[in-house]
Amino acid sequence: MPKDPLTPYGNRPMVTPIVNAVNYEYASFEVLRQITDGEIEGYTYHRDDNPTVREVERQIARMEGAEDCIICTTGMAAGTMVYLTYLSQGDHLILFHDIYGAHYKVSLILERMGVEITWLDASVGQDVRQHVKPNTRMILCETPSNPLCKTVDIAAVAEIAHDSGALFVVDNTFATPYHQKPLQLGADLVLHSATKGLGGHNDLMAGALAGSKEHYDKLWFTRQAIGTTLDAYSASLLERGLKSFELRAERMAANALAMAEFLAGHPKVTRILYPGLTSDSGHEVACKQMAGGFGGILAFDVGETIDQAKAFIDALEVIVHAVSLGATESLICIPYLTTMLYLPEERRTTFGVKQNTIRLSAGIEKPDALIRDLEQALSKV
Ligand SMILES: Cc1ncc(COP(=O)(O)O)c(C=O)c1O
Repeated sequence: MPKDPLTPYGNRPMVTPIVNAVNYEYASFEVLRQITDGEIEGYTYHRDDNPTVREVERQIARMEGAEDCIICTTGMAAGTMVYLTYLSQGDHLILFHDIYGAHYKVSLILERMGVEITWLDASVGQDVRQHVKPNTRMILCETPSNPLCKTVDIAAVAEIAHDSGALFVVDNTFATPYHQKPLQLGADLVLHSATKGLGGHNDLMAGALAGSKEHYDKLWFTRQAIGTTLDAYSASLLERGLKSFELRAERMAANALAMAEFLAGHPKVTRILYPGLTSDSGHEVACKQMAGGFGGILAFDVGETIDQAKAFIDALEVIVHAVSLGATESLICIPYLTTMLYLPEERRTTFGVKQNTIRLSAGIEKPDALIRDLEQALSKV
């Protein structure tokens, strides 16, 4: 058996081959035993593992400074795997209102299964401690958060979580590992919607969880049980995205800052939220925990009404009206009408999201083209 099944002749392909196999032949019962005992890295069944997927997991682990990483079908599959792996009936979970909307739907399922949940405002800071209970098992946050780009102090919350024995999970999708490494700041697990900046081209969905080998083993058990293993083709697209990830992350953050600075000075913009602005309430903490930029996503309010926000988006010519984020194209949407649409009305506008709040994800276009587009569209409101 060649040492590395992907490079049998010693001339490694520049791209990890897409292994589409569902199952793998065992050359002997001894080979089967060695694989299942973990003595050799072999494969049995796609739901268990796949060599293309495994290679991409190693790359993301390196990017996050983690011992290992497990990837799965979507960012929400990653979140659900975390909940299913670590929470049981009677446990308490702390979540933040300003996180991706679908977590609210999962929270309803968790409550039905007997998990107690406390929702906090992401700007709560050190007050998180007051909400920790003897049965708190997990704290999960996004920083910067979706959609209001609030900053959570990772090191401070990590200390609170660890004082109480809770697992601390940080969704690093907005920041990306280029700007922020939560594990180095004390988080136990990093979550990604790899659909976003890691993939980066609007052509794949994936989730990733990076952390210790011990967490990898636990999460692997869940993935194998429930069948959220990513397909090899998407893993290959994700690998291609990772090749240009650093360049894209740098450009997106520079574009986001340029657009935030422009919008901050515009009379028709009534609120601007971006941790890279010195005026932002999260700026100080963001400077402490982010490096080389503040991510590619910003939020702002246009005028006072949803009709003004719609008129502005309708007038854009370069920036694309679509959901998702972290892509090569700049993407813009009104969260009230998209990512928060299926939430109960009171949650759609709690904690700062307004009907005229706009989320803008910077792409890799030339900054001048983006600013000109914002300027001409604002002139039509
Ligand atoms: C910060 C964040 N986390 C998780 C998710 C869920 O990811 P996916 O759409 O890949 O399931 C999203 C989706 O937009 C997100 O923005």
